[in-house]
Amino acid sequence: MHDKKTVLITGGNKGIGLDTSKLFVDAGYAVVVLARDFKNFPLQGNPAVQSVEYDLADIEGIPQLITSLPPIDVLVNNAGIMYALPYDGYPAEKVEQILNVNMKAPVALITEVSKNMVAKGAGRIVNNASIAGEIGHPDVWYGITKAGMINITKSFAKILGPQGVVVNAVAPGPAETEMLATIPEPRKRAIKSAVYTGRFAYPQEVARAMFWLATDCPEYINGTCIDINNGAFPR
Ligand SMILES: NC(=O)c1ccc[n+]([C@@H]2O[C@H](COP(=O)([O-])OP(=O)(O)OC[C@H]3O[C@@H](n4cnc5c(N)ncnc54)[C@H](OP(=O)(O)O)[C@@H]3O)[C@@H](O)[C@H]2O)c1
Repeated sequence: MHDKKTVLITGGNKGIGLDTSKLFVDAGYAVVVLARDFKNFPLQGNPAVQSVEYDLADIEGIPQLITSLPPIDVLVNNAGIMYALPYDGYPAEKVEQILNVNMKAPVALITEVSKNMVAKGAGRIVNNASIAGEIGHPDVWYGITKAGMINITKSFAKILGPQGVVVNAVAPGPAETEMLATIPEPRKRAIKSAVYTGRFAYPQEVARAMFWLATDCPEYINGTCIDINNGAFPR
């Protein structure tokens, strides 16, 4: 018998994060789901799931938040936002919001949860980046934060890897979630024509990759970012 492990999944209430939450529930984890809105959360009431209402734009509150939770064995930094805004019409408060949610919050969460991981000599962290962080994006701040996420992964693997913590990322191409609502139809068609299967990724496909990195993936895979783009950016 081993102790039940606890996973913290940001944005685990919908989209890719929800599918990830389901995989961890099925695997017997205690699942802490962090998001702002749990109105239509299908796992509400599941005894293995704790819903934590929190706005990740509040960076300063993160240390207190983590203190209030059980020790975290696995962190999935999944929450993220994207705006349909041009680079020359991007209000300063939106820049601050996207930097906070997509980049500063993941760093603050890693900083806090890794204390327990380092003390145990074990832990897993998975970051949801994006192909946008590799090839650029019309929402320039989205692309910048996702490139940041890939570098956050490498930097923390360097810092925490020698202490038993495995830190990896995924870089998905467009996946069928609410996030795609802001993309205009012609761009959607162009994106679909650039991949082998002619479709967007299913959120489960990203969730399964993140789950593997967070559980069974060999510890020798550390500081890596797995592309999930179906030929949109072969390398
Ligand atoms: N869908 C794609 O095409 C695609 C491609 C590559 C990468 N990704 C990445 O995948 C991740 C998940 O996105 P998704 O596609 O599943 O989109 P989604 O369905 O829109 O989910 C976004 C998640 O982030 C959470 N979130 C946003 N702002 C937050 C805040 N201030 N505080 C706390 N939580 C917040 C949302 O929860 P609440 O709104 O309830 O707070 C929601 O759970 C994101 O990091 C995204 O960048 C998505």
